[in-house]
Amino acid sequence: MNDKVGDVRIALLAALEKVTSETDIEQVRVQFLSRSGAIANLFDEMRSLPSAEKPAMGKMLNELKADAQSAFDEKKKSLSAAKIVGGGPIDLTLPGRPKPVGTKHPLMQTIDEIKRIFVSMGFSVATGPEIETDYYNFGALNFAPDHPARDMQDTFFISKEILLRTHTSPVQIRTMEKQKPPVREIMPGRVYRNEAISARSLVSFYQIEGLYVDQGVSFSDLKGTLVAFARQFYGNDVKYKFRPTFFPFTEPSADMYISCFLCKGKGCRMCKRAGWLEILGSGMVHPHVLKNVGYDTEKYTGFAFGMGMERTASLRYGVDDLRLYYENDVRFLRQF
Ligand code: PHE
Repeated sequence: MNDKVGDVRIALLAALEKVTSETDIEQVRVQFLSRSGAIANLFDEMRSLPSAEKPAMGKMLNELKADAQSAFDEKKKSLSAAKIVGGGPIDLTLPGRPKPVGTKHPLMQTIDEIKRIFVSMGFSVATGPEIETDYYNFGALNFAPDHPARDMQDTFFISKEILLRTHTSPVQIRTMEKQKPPVREIMPGRVYRNEAISARSLVSFYQIEGLYVDQGVSFSDLKGTLVAFARQFYGNDVKYKFRPTFFPFTEPSADMYISCFLCKGKGCRMCKRAGWLEILGSGMVHPHVLKNVGYDTEKYTGFAFGMGMERTASLRYGVDDLRLYYENDVRFLRQF
């Protein structure tokens, strides 16, 4: 019987050697490892041996069975690995799928560009909280408690004292409270206004504020700085004008306009036939504001300005609906 055990071992290895397919390997299993296979037959045969020989033969057959099973398993594994390489469920010869690469949002690109321009002029960047107190958003900025100017901006109040900031100007106050002049900061951030959402207005948008306070800062510094900015951002050949306006926190105050770069001032859809585009609000910091942060108003003067980023980006890229910035449709975003 010993010879038979050796024969089965050799036959099994030879059969496995020849296996090339699933059907082949299934045949080997039936022939050797199934309940009526060659190995099971040997176990049957062992029963008719004299009892003295049974233990040794049992040990031998168990070894055969274990060896056969592991040789079989190994073959099976290499068979399915070969199937994967050779164009089965995964074809390793196919080129990889490209992963779409994201880009910076157009609003963030605009903010970055404006930051870059002002930083090159010696400004640094400051930020402040979006949830503000009435004092920082209005009181310290010279909005009297019952002043109608508070109606200029429709405010989301959280409580009587707490609100979502309606502009980035409160960061002026926070910056000056922390720091003695000279102050030369730009302050980008998100602001909130309770307005009906349309192509021209949103409930939440971005602004960039600018503030320069030092000894002897004059209105011509304001003009010089903002014109230098407009030329870098909108192009060297833009014409500009300043028109008087009102803000409680600046006096005098001026809106800045540039000649429409689409129609070169002739009048088009972009500038609504005016030939001019309003790009920002500005003014000399009101002495009350300087006093509120403890600055000596005999010694220091300053200017401030603020602009909306959605509007700025739209002027630059010719986008006519502000809502597009927040829909995050990749067909829109991919264009920048
Ligand atoms: N805070 C003003 C606004 O939101 C903009 C502004 C900032 C005007 C600084 C003048 C100076 O409309």
